Amino acid sequence: MNADALDDYILSHIDEEGDLLAELNRDAHVNLLRPRMLSGHLQGRILKMFCRMLRPRRILEIGTYTGYATLCMAEGIDDDALIYSIEINDEMEDFINKYVSKSPDKHKIKVCFGDAMDIIPSLGETFDMVFIDADKRLYSAYFDLVFPFVREGGIILADNILWDGKVLTPPQPADKQTVGILDFNEKIKQDTRIEKVILPLRDGLTVIWKK
Ligand SMILES: C[S@@+](CC[C@H](N)C(=O)[O-])C[C@H]1O[C@@H](n2cnc3c(N)ncnc32)[C@H](O)[C@@H]1O
Repeated sequence: MNADALDDYILSHIDEEGDLLAELNRDAHVNLLRPRMLSGHLQGRILKMFCRMLRPRRILEIGTYTGYATLCMAEGIDDDALIYSIEINDEMEDFINKYVSKSPDKHKIKVCFGDAMDIIPSLGETFDMVFIDADKRLYSAYFDLVFPFVREGGIILADNILWDGKVLTPPQPADKQTVGILDFNEKIKQDTRIEKVILPLRDGLTVIWKK
């Protein structure tokens, strides 16, 4: 089975990403160091579909990077709903603003620059959906911090939880990112306040439902 051919087949049989996101994607691949960090066509459409199905009024994204996933989720939410997206690297500000400003959904997006650990408690919001996609070493800390701000019945998504398959072998102690992902996966497994499932999508996406 040819995995690339299957990916192409999938992408040619789902909704297109649209001109703005395709332009962002190209720009990131030409001008940014780690373009693979952005969600991309398939995951972006899935995030939008989650929004269509769940109709969240308030979303929190931890880790904006280019704003690709932010723009996808903004497409899927109601006109008066709002996404807070937090990015620690202020060098991304011009790139993010370039694309958010061109989007017809820009009024649904608020990008905050700084450390999510500092910003989350100051937002004063209760979230219906959270997308954790920042520093892999801090996934458990993000989860603990954000949990009280998620409403009962709310959804938390965590990206990259298979970490390129590195979850299958004992990590080098110095590999703090793999250790962080492994700790998070174990913690989520044990937590009885939530229901959880792992979607083997791309690099692994955990879907968590707060009881
Ligand atoms: C994987 S990228 C996010 C991709 C984006 N969510 C998407 O799907 O297109 C991770 C981003 O998290 C940011 N980041 C890392 N630690 C952070 C923190 N403590 N607070 C906010 N952002 C952080 C990084 O600078 C990076 O841009």
